[in-house]
Amino acid sequence: VRRGDLDGVRLLVTAGGTREPIDPVRYLGNRSSGRQGVAVAAAAADRGAKVVLLAANVDESVLAGVRDRGAVRVVPIGTAAELEAAAHAAASGAEAVIMAAAVADYRVAEVAEHKIRKEDTAGEAPTLTLVENPDILVGLVRGRRPGQVIVGFAAETVAAESDADDELLERGRRKLARKGVDLLAVNAVGWTEGFESDANRLYVLDADGRVAGEASGSKREVADRLLDAVRDELRALSH
Ligand code: C5P
Repeated sequence: VRRGDLDGVRLLVTAGGTREPIDPVRYLGNRSSGRQGVAVAAAAADRGAKVVLLAANVDESVLAGVRDRGAVRVVPIGTAAELEAAAHAAASGAEAVIMAAAVADYRVAEVAEHKIRKEDTAGEAPTLTLVENPDILVGLVRGRRPGQVIVGFAAETVAAESDADDELLERGRRKLARKGVDLLAVNAVGWTEGFESDANRLYVLDADGRVAGEASGSKREVADRLLDAVRDELRALSH
């Protein structure tokens, strides 16, 4: 049904999680595997899009899903600063941006030039001073070209109760307002759902906070549902 509905559309997708160095051998990271972003890139390519995939520390085994697709250009990324620079460079040539990467909110203020050794800290536990990273998504929204569709992700942990989805959507709507994106993909993460598993559950909110799509299933199914909303948004903006 969807084959070719994104023909020739240029898409920027970010995936994975940034790593912020502490010293030459250590970093602050997160548990994002990159699977959801990679699934979006693969699904988009299958539907005719040309994709730049900024892959932040994504395992080669996960990237295997797009390596054989000529329509996906994979750019490896390490830190939030690298992701920001690459995202701004690639965004100008994209009709839509899908920001699925988990970006570290903070980085280490002063990265140690040499490995921090226990012997050198005289029995005192060292203190890490952190500084805030820029919000890449907000920067992209500010600099967006006319007609460009920008999609953010909100990965939230919620209690496994019956009103968990309401809480999820409520938090999503607040995030939507803060970020100024056209679409926000809201999903529940936890120890069993989200980050490292293949299954996912997701709502797509439009700029007015309405549910524009809903999906649950494999990350591929979720990716296709999200891309439906992006396609509809692109069509609406071009009319
Ligand atoms: O505020 P929060 O981190 O939950 O927002 C998630 C969304 O914002 C994701 O799309 C993520 O890629 C993006 N983000 C960003 N730069 C940051 C933090 C988050 O682009 N520093």
